[in-house]
Amino acid sequence: MHSRILAAVAAAAAAVLALTGCAASAAGSGSDPNNPNQLEAFTWWVAGSEKVGLDALVGVFAEQYPGIEFINASVAGGAGSNAKEALAARLGADNPPDTFQAHAGAELTDYIEAGQLQDLSQFYVDNGLTDVFPETLVDRLTVDGKIYSVPSNIHRANVVWANTAVLTAAGIDPATPPANLDAWIADLQKLKDSGVEAPLALGTDWTQLQLFENVLIADLGPEAYSGLWTGSTGWDIRGVKAAVDHYGRLLDFVNTDYSGMEWDAATQLVIDGKSGYNVMGDWAEAAFEQAGLTYGQEYTTFPTPGTAGVFDFLADSFTLPVGAPHEQAAKDWLATISSADGQKAFNLAKGSIPSRTDTVASDYPAYQQTAIASFADDTVVSSLAHGAAASTGWSGAISAAVSKFATDRKAEALSRELLRAYADFQIG
Ligand code: GAL
Repeated sequence: MHSRILAAVAAAAAAVLALTGCAASAAGSGSDPNNPNQLEAFTWWVAGSEKVGLDALVGVFAEQYPGIEFINASVAGGAGSNAKEALAARLGADNPPDTFQAHAGAELTDYIEAGQLQDLSQFYVDNGLTDVFPETLVDRLTVDGKIYSVPSNIHRANVVWANTAVLTAAGIDPATPPANLDAWIADLQKLKDSGVEAPLALGTDWTQLQLFENVLIADLGPEAYSGLWTGSTGWDIRGVKAAVDHYGRLLDFVNTDYSGMEWDAATQLVIDGKSGYNVMGDWAEAAFEQAGLTYGQEYTTFPTPGTAGVFDFLADSFTLPVGAPHEQAAKDWLATISSADGQKAFNLAKGSIPSRTDTVASDYPAYQQTAIASFADDTVVSSLAHGAAASTGWSGAISAAVSKFATDRKAEALSRELLRAYADFQIG
């Protein structure tokens, strides 16, 4: 692990342990509405590198607000695959945590439209945050001129993580990324021919959706891809059919045990040299760092072939739910998240980049420097698998169709389901 990250993580962990005793607790357990010195936070950062990131943030919170007990109500499952349901049950039962993690964009809009979040516009003014975040992010946090959450980070979802030794052994130059999906498929074939059984590591449903969204961006380009979410691009156009075809061809190169496999296990296949590539958001950077691999030597990254010049965006953003039992403590947490110190500690550990515009790129390791440059210079599009592009219902319908395709490979059925999902959720 990067030595600066190690030091930050160790300090954070010590502070967390000193101030909270044990961070983990079951949802709701230990939260006492009559004790103002508590904060119950809900995320899906429960294990591995994601937990290290959360601990770094909690460490800064403990320094900035000593005396507030941090109650960790998180629910495991990458991309919130289980957490969102558990959260919906709590919100439905009028038992909200004091703050919860959500994705900037359409997913956040779902909560806002359901009346579940408090307006934080005044909090932004009081804490001098109005100009601290980039416009492209603030746009995705705002509904009807009001802003309802505080972002902790920005992740990039169109990244290929590659094991350089595996590629080199198959005669592929890791420093020359394939120019497009067809060239990448040719390299995947080379890996297969050289004896690598699963050249492309894949995992559970949401990682399939993430791969499919990458292929959509590659085949449509950023403008037409973005139009899928606004209705200006039809789901019946040739580019979508080309994406379904490319996606099916990529599936010919994946591990057979992908079903139910969490992202970190899929990424681990690349770390261990069992696969050549994995398409994953840049939380994978933290996993490579933790495994002790060196960027540019043992592993490398490039934008998913066909998506160079595009930043597939998502951001985690924390909320103040209506009826939060510890409102002031939640505001303190949001203040930590938005502070320069909080963002630096968290993002160094998480692999993401700060959502603040006053980021100093040289404070970050090499991979994150590429992400900082890409976010500044490239065309930003919204991630489907991570709540930025489409409502939870819509992305769930697409995800179900994409997962079904992985087993039945019926391209026409997938195309039909994509059209139906659009009709059901965008128009109807
Ligand atoms: C994303 C989330 C990231 C990371 C990832 C894997 O949706 O925004 O912070 O946690 O899921 O769980």
